Amino acid sequence: MLIASLKPRTMGGTTNTGLLAYALARAGHPVTCYDADESLQLAAWARDVDDFPCKVYEADTPAFAETVYSTMDHSRINLVDAGHAENHPDIVDSVLEVADLAIVTVSPTKPDYDRLTRPERGTPLAKLIKRSAALRDSGQPPTTVVLLNRCQASSASPAKYAELLRSGGETGAEPRWVVLTTRIPRREGIASAVGALCDKPERRAPYDTLVTELAQMGHLPGLQSTS
Ligand SMILES: Nc1ncnc2c1ncn2[C@@H]1O[C@H](COP(=O)(O)OP(=O)(O)O)[C@@H](O)[C@H]1O
Ligand SMILES: [Mg+2]
Repeated sequence: MLIASLKPRTMGGTTNTGLLAYALARAGHPVTCYDADESLQLAAWARDVDDFPCKVYEADTPAFAETVYSTMDHSRINLVDAGHAENHPDIVDSVLEVADLAIVTVSPTKPDYDRLTRPERGTPLAKLIKRSAALRDSGQPPTTVVLLNRCQASSASPAKYAELLRSGGETGAEPRWVVLTTRIPRREGIASAVGALCDKPERRAPYDTLVTELAQMGHLPGLQSTS
């Protein structure tokens, strides 16, 4: 399968992609990553760190669907970190053409909510997702979930923005999103994760919860029994 990690602008997407890959691998899933962001930070993370869980292939091309997807081992969980959708809609279009699941990272703040739902410039991510249906074999957009990142435990903002996203904004007229109950906390240990060792408790726990939630929702393949 292919999971796409998306965001409209910088939101913690690469952090989430790498630590999700780490959690999936520790849960026993065969994982391969693709870096479709021209900054290539995920690829550099894998290159520089001993405990990064898998290979990362450079894949920052608007021909992702044709030239990268066709090379994948589809029995594995393939995880692609896409760049900012605001700046690289062509690459995100191509990723959405073939992804089975899209995880959209959003921070629960007004500027980041606005950049997701009504950017001053560029195409809203919801529109990219919707229009991908025209290019997909199923004729439907990929299943899409929102993962809130940089959540302050004591703040009311995560619950507020989760509700706005679920209910189509203040008017109910905007796109409605499925928001995961897993929230990635705002933590220094996570802030400094990209390019650093994965094996730290604060870099494991929220992403283990994320893997459990995705599995419970039926979004992950079953694990092969080893017995
Ligand atoms: N859970 C978190 N808590 C605090 N800071 C975070 C967290 N996740 C990411 N960050 C910070 O957010 C910034 C963007 O993260 P990054 O993963 O590079 O985002 P993107 O790939 O979306 O551009 C970085 O400065 C990183 O340190
Ligand atoms: Mg990034």
